[in-house]
Amino acid sequence: MRAYFFLLLSGLVTFVSAQSYTERYRPQYHYTPAKNWMNDPNGLIYHNGQYHLYYQYNPSGDVWGNMSWGHAISNDLTYWEEQQVALSAFDAPAGPLSEFYFSGSAVSDDIHSSGLGNSTRTPLVAAYTSYYPNDVTLPNNQTVRGGTQAQSIAYSTDDGLTWTEYAGNPVLPLPPSPYEDQWRDFRDPFIFWHEQGHHWVMVVSLPQLHKLLIYTSKNLTQWEHVSEFGPANAVGGVWECPNLFPLPLDGKKSNIKWVLMMGINPGGLAFTGSSATQYIVGSFDGKTFTADADSAYDPSSGKANWLDYGPDYYAAATYNGLGNFERVAITWMNDWAYATIIPTFPWRSAMTIPRKLTLEKIDGQPRLLSTPHSNLQSLKHGPPLYSKHWDSIPTGSVTLPVSGKVLDITLTFSSGKSSKHLGLGVRTNGMNNGTIIGYDFTTTQMFVNRNASSDASSFSSLFPGVYYAPLHSKDGTIKLRILLDWSSVEVFGGRGESTITAQIFPSDANTGISLFSNGDAKDVRIKVESVSSAWDISSHK
Ligand SMILES: *[C@@H]1O[C@H](CO)[C@@H](O)[C@H](O)[C@H]1NC(C)=O
Ligand SMILES: *[C@@H]1O[C@H](CO)[C@@H](O)[C@H](O)[C@H]1NC(C)=O
Ligand SMILES: *[C@@H]1O[C@H](CO)[C@@H](O)[C@H](O)[C@H]1NC(C)=O
Ligand SMILES: *[C@@H]1O[C@H](CO)[C@@H](O)[C@H](O)[C@H]1NC(C)=O
Ligand SMILES: *[C@@H]1O[C@H](CO)[C@@H](O)[C@H](O)[C@H]1NC(C)=O
Ligand SMILES: *[C@@H]1O[C@H](CO)[C@@H](O)[C@H](O)[C@H]1NC(C)=O
Repeated sequence: MRAYFFLLLSGLVTFVSAQSYTERYRPQYHYTPAKNWMNDPNGLIYHNGQYHLYYQYNPSGDVWGNMSWGHAISNDLTYWEEQQVALSAFDAPAGPLSEFYFSGSAVSDDIHSSGLGNSTRTPLVAAYTSYYPNDVTLPNNQTVRGGTQAQSIAYSTDDGLTWTEYAGNPVLPLPPSPYEDQWRDFRDPFIFWHEQGHHWVMVVSLPQLHKLLIYTSKNLTQWEHVSEFGPANAVGGVWECPNLFPLPLDGKKSNIKWVLMMGINPGGLAFTGSSATQYIVGSFDGKTFTADADSAYDPSSGKANWLDYGPDYYAAATYNGLGNFERVAITWMNDWAYATIIPTFPWRSAMTIPRKLTLEKIDGQPRLLSTPHSNLQSLKHGPPLYSKHWDSIPTGSVTLPVSGKVLDITLTFSSGKSSKHLGLGVRTNGMNNGTIIGYDFTTTQMFVNRNASSDASSFSSLFPGVYYAPLHSKDGTIKLRILLDWSSVEVFGGRGESTITAQIFPSDANTGISLFSNGDAKDVRIKVESVSSAWDISSHK
């Protein structure tokens, strides 16, 4: 993974070579831009053998502002190369910073329905929210009030490298009746091709109302409002970044369900004020999403299906353009509660690793499962650093003869007669327990405790905390898979029905791993594998 900066100097494109990506807290296998602020993943599309990752990006600083679409490309979802900014607010058609490019999605217009671009090259079409900070007259003479959020499209005929705004933008200047008064909060279009309906679908949010609007189109330029959904389930501050996609339940192609996924901010479980991602399972006929009765709760109940139970998992986005029912998500690994002050420099925010999403019945209910994308294997070389099996572990804690900052750890165990807790400390030293990841047999929950995860925790009083996720054993066995990087842990419980994602900012000196037990856990197995840096593209070739 190597980043190039394209400097446009009097028409000449020059590469400024990569940096080392070894700054303090720099993730080694999670995507980060070389510098500056990043938030939501946008326009995830697999096209011509390449995975595109666009994202909310400030080209001019390391806090939110001047929002543009940054861009990275990968052949395998593992090694990423940063590209030139795809949609820059500094190049907006009506003048620099007259328009910000908020979140959205992208499709490949294989059937040339849009007529955009060039009749011989398949255009990629992105839909995004145009935010106009001030009153403006656009080049097409539409006038827009300052503060408006409207939906626009752009197209690329060079496989996603450069983009041109559609001259008729915005394609949705206002929300439909009776929601015209929501013109300041109308955003994050997710578009996709609906095969049976033979039309395009757009899901876009009215964040303050906790409603999602569904539109259809034959040509991506003209959109018809056909239905709405919401509110339902934990309602929280705002609903943002919807995704809607089909998945077979338990792998059965004869039982296709549709999953509606959205960000909620604030309103997550991790702490009061945290951002989070939830989903609702149901059906979709091309125009209307109908929630299953066991997936939709009364809005006042506060109940929801959480895609992750940690503090740092927001604005999940999924790939268009993959094979039948293949769903891969990438998510912003930060929390709005402290996102702009995390102690990293010269970049701010990382993405989660790509996760494969599947739908399976767990405890009688369809649940969205997340597992690390199998391509992560390409970052592992050689045998495990450490593996061990114990018949049982008495109460106490031991330091294991293995250490590291970039690891993939699998821990399995089962309950004894009096088991209370079992788990690991990672990034520990003798005095500091580091980040504690474990299982509470009494409440049947897995947890991550990051109270001692940071030597810079004073950057926010909201950072310390303990996060819990429900997890039941399968045939008596509990499984935790822990992906550790320089400034994060992602914990996958069971088959992926519960995950906890949390940033950590530990001291460089703390690299130890401890195993702790309270009670008598049985049949404990651990495997610790090292993960190599994804910035080192030479190891990839
Ligand atoms: C946005 O760009 C303007 C003009 O370059 C600059 O003055 C301002 O500081 C930038 N804002 C942020 C938040 O980066
Ligand atoms: C379409 O793009 C290709 C490749 O850039 C170019 O060779 C061709 O002339 C273009 N055709 C039209 C009709 O613009
Ligand atoms: C916009 O208005 C100006 C002035 O009336 C006119 O000259 C121009 O042709 C118009 N542009 C478009 C795209 O209609
Ligand atoms: C798009 O489709 C609509 C009808 O669905 C049509 O009225 C419009 O002219 C089309 N636009 C373009 C640019 O083809
Ligand atoms: C944390 O560290 C203390 C002191 O080194 C030790 O006694 C305790 O067992 C550790 N706890 C865990 C959960 O590892
Ligand atoms: C973790 O820290 C929080 C906030 O400082 C505190 O309320 C909680 O008791 C601590 N929990 C544990 C298990 O250390």
